[in-house]
Amino acid sequence: MIIRQLVTEDYDALVALWREAALSHRPNGRDCLERIAHEIAGTTAIFLVAESKERIIGAILGTHDGRKGWINRLAVVPSHQQQGVATALVTAVEKQLSELGIEIVACLIEEWNKDSAVFFGKLGYHCHSDIHYYSKRKDAAV
Ligand SMILES: CC(C)(COP(=O)(O)OP(=O)(O)OC[C@H]1O[C@@H](n2cnc3c(N)ncnc32)[C@H](O)[C@@H]1OP(=O)(O)O)[C@@H](O)C(=O)NCCC(=O)NCCS
Repeated sequence: MIIRQLVTEDYDALVALWREAALSHRPNGRDCLERIAHEIAGTTAIFLVAESKERIIGAILGTHDGRKGWINRLAVVPSHQQQGVATALVTAVEKQLSELGIEIVACLIEEWNKDSAVFFGKLGYHCHSDIHYYSKRKDAAV
């Protein structure tokens, strides 16, 4: 398995991966090809894929806002889960963030997603049950 940067040519495989992993995403909003390509061309994206036998088996969209790093859209295909793929992806994002001087990494986990909560807990992430997530959107698709 190798970890490499996501390129725009990976987009269809990325969406297929999200579907296979049953990860909710916003194909008409921030996960559309144009937005992903825009982020890749910018300076705040650490978008990585795990590849095995020329197939994308996992992906992570790391970002930062200059203060804090964020992990988004982490997914591994079911056939390769529980083999350390997601750990390798998160570790790679954390390393790149650290090289930028960013030492805090966060992610949002929906309450139903207990598996993901267990996963991030094992990697040393602390759950802040006293924080509520507020967002303001132009429309529901974004
Ligand atoms: C969550 C997810 C990314 C984990 O990927 P993975 O490659 O299987 O994770 P790893 O193999 O690196 O697991 C690391 C640790 O977490 C544990 N873990 C992973 N998935 C688990 C699960 N479903 N239940 C319990 N523990 C789990 C592993 O056993 C391992 O623990 P260990 O170090 O004690 O052996 C993967 O299950 C997935 O793609 N889920 C669907 C999409 C999703 O929910 N993404 C996260 C959105 S926030």
